[in-house]
Amino acid sequence: MRLKNRRIIITGAGSGFGRATAGLFAREGAALALFDQDEKAVAETAAMFGGHAYQVDVTDEDQVNRVVSSAVEALGGLDGVVNSAGIMSSASFEDTDPASWRRVIEVNLTGTYLVCRAALPALRQAEHATIVNIASGQALLPSLTGCSYAASKAGVMMFTKSLAVELAPSIRANVICPGASDTPMTQKVLPPSEVAKRAALAQSYALKRLTEPEEVANAILFLTSSEASAITGIAMSVDCGRTFH
Ligand SMILES: NC(=O)c1ccc[n+]([C@@H]2O[C@H](COP(=O)([O-])OP(=O)(O)OC[C@H]3O[C@@H](n4cnc5c(N)ncnc54)[C@H](O)[C@@H]3O)[C@@H](O)[C@H]2O)c1
Repeated sequence: MRLKNRRIIITGAGSGFGRATAGLFAREGAALALFDQDEKAVAETAAMFGGHAYQVDVTDEDQVNRVVSSAVEALGGLDGVVNSAGIMSSASFEDTDPASWRRVIEVNLTGTYLVCRAALPALRQAEHATIVNIASGQALLPSLTGCSYAASKAGVMMFTKSLAVELAPSIRANVICPGASDTPMTQKVLPPSEVAKRAALAQSYALKRLTEPEEVANAILFLTSSEASAITGIAMSVDCGRTFH
């Protein structure tokens, strides 16, 4: 029960890493407020693991302020935030039009900023508060395509490091850079039918496989728990060795 009595908001909780984190955090004793723009998906996560479900588009400042305020009231305070809501673009620079560029930056970077901003007053009331934001291996090492995604995730990384400096010592802020994982996000760009491409991707990593959502959730748990009480401002790669060489 490493998160006993901890009250946590998780965004992107309807799928992938967010859902895996909700399951693990619930088992570790946390009280959860689960955010996602997909109302049905986030309700499913709440039905599976417990917690309060909220439908919200993280790019909408008014909606974010409203649901964070409702969540803080429902939980009776707030000890942590995990920002996992995100969208992917694998378009090349030449194929990235301004509308798609803006949307990727809005969801991944501005959405993370808006949720942190709305949560800050409640986090300041907590004894040991934490923020864990999900960037990507592409914040550290770009792929052949996907410049808007890489730029948004590099922004999430440096935004989080800035928070670690500004909000210390009362709030710890860390960022995770996951490698490719077999979540619905990846399945959209690399469907299970693309067996050869998936195998080649896995072979390009030191551990010769993709990262499991639960492995990312374990890292989020560690950084949120008091076991990481001396850790702030780090970018932790959880990527089967994608970025270290
Ligand atoms: N899956 C990977 O391989 C991978 C690798 C590195 C980083 N990431 C990052 O991890 C995070 C989670 O990815 P995932 O694989 O779980 O993706 P996913 O698509 O399975 O889940 C993302 C969730 O975010 C929600 N979401 C999207 N836009 C939103 C918005 N505007 N407001 C509220 N909710 C919104 C979606 O509805 C979805 O439930 C993302 O930030 C992603 O960029 C994923």
